[in-house]
Amino acid sequence: MAAKFLIRGGRPLSGRVTVGGAKNSALPIITAAALAAEGESVLDNVPNNSDIHHLCQILKDLGCQLEWIEETSLWIRANDLANHVAPYNIARKLRGSTYVMGLLLARLGKGEVACPGGCEIGARPVDFHLKGFKALGADVVVEHGAMKAENVKLSGARFYVDRASVGTTVNMMITASLTPGTTLLENAAVEPEIVDLANYINGMGGRLRGAGTNTIRIEGVDKLHGCRHEVIPDRIEAGTYMMMAAAASGDVLIDNCITEHLSTVIAKLREAGQEVEEQMDAVRVIARRPIHSADVETQVHPGFPTDLQSPWVTLMGLSDGIAVVQETIFENRFGFINELIRMGANIKVDRNTAIVRGVERYTGAPVEAKDIRGGAALVAAGLAADGVTEIAGIRYLDRGYNRMEDKLAELGADIRRIELPENNV
Ligand code: UD1
Repeated sequence: MAAKFLIRGGRPLSGRVTVGGAKNSALPIITAAALAAEGESVLDNVPNNSDIHHLCQILKDLGCQLEWIEETSLWIRANDLANHVAPYNIARKLRGSTYVMGLLLARLGKGEVACPGGCEIGARPVDFHLKGFKALGADVVVEHGAMKAENVKLSGARFYVDRASVGTTVNMMITASLTPGTTLLENAAVEPEIVDLANYINGMGGRLRGAGTNTIRIEGVDKLHGCRHEVIPDRIEAGTYMMMAAAASGDVLIDNCITEHLSTVIAKLREAGQEVEEQMDAVRVIARRPIHSADVETQVHPGFPTDLQSPWVTLMGLSDGIAVVQETIFENRFGFINELIRMGANIKVDRNTAIVRGVERYTGAPVEAKDIRGGAALVAAGLAADGVTEIAGIRYLDRGYNRMEDKLAELGADIRRIELPENNV
């Protein structure tokens, strides 16, 4: 079934919302759990979204056992991983499936995984990943829509990560953990999700040092074993609710977050005149008017995250001035802006720059989400808008947000999910 959100805007948000585990941490960590030829892992604080469900299905097809033992706790046993071909139609749906290739090379010395899909936010090639595999001794070719390799003998190497790519860093960490010798990753990504993955693999008996800095040293080990690990909270989900609170005149406590991971977002919201109170594991956002315009340029961590650029544009669209928003990570991440313009936004896009002129209000309209975060930006606009906003393409939001409509309804929003037959959306 396809789904739409129906939002009657203009109701201020208030109360407490609890953030789930980080999708971008859980995807690599669940994949890494399948590196263990011994024992079992229990992963806590795993978000319940469709990307995670797809990854679990892929791993089951490869021979792993996975079971939800609680709503957010996943049990995994990978001793019997034996199949080296990932199911094409599932793997092609998510970007995180690239990591399955690294897993298969490390565990079985061969693999076949569909080239990944994911959101339409740019070309999203896998060339850095393939270069990384090659550096470790694996010639991975792309044929008939899939990455393929056979008879691979891996050995540790020194590898420079282009553009400090998050996915490439993850993939190299997963693969090199079971690769004989030492692997040195230079210009590695420093995102909190990288540190979370390193902590988990080290708990499995791995030997990774330097995660969170630009250089990661990985001593390959013969075997890894399962262990228990709690996934870090999702800083992007937290940031999304922070911006929704500010846009929808809210007073919201965003619970279960690591405030240090949100420092850029907190600074920017304050620059925009919003009140942000940092607590131990929570932030409270109290909306203030006017919203001041504040420029943003997306950067790798700890810069402003590209994943929060879209909801930021929504917020700036209601500001008292002109904000310049530059997207430097993905070349096509302004797709939602056309939809926002239907709601009354005044925005001009020139290549990777959006010039956002604040308007007094948005007005509800039928719009369509085309990627996870662009979808969240439209929800934020719908919450703030006069009248009814109908958002199609909710499957994108479901990839990265668990129960968004329930969480917002608990904060007082008037939001409903409407299930529709596929050809109606
Ligand atoms: C991950 C996150 C995504 C986030 C992004 C940047 C996951 C599942 N997704 O995506 O939410 O927005 O980091 O923080 O964790 N590139 C290439 N060739 C490659 C790989 C990347 O050209 O082989 C380019 C990309 O197109 C992009 C840039 O490098 O322009 C950075 O991408 P990367 O950091 O790898 O993002 P992902 O891992 O795909």
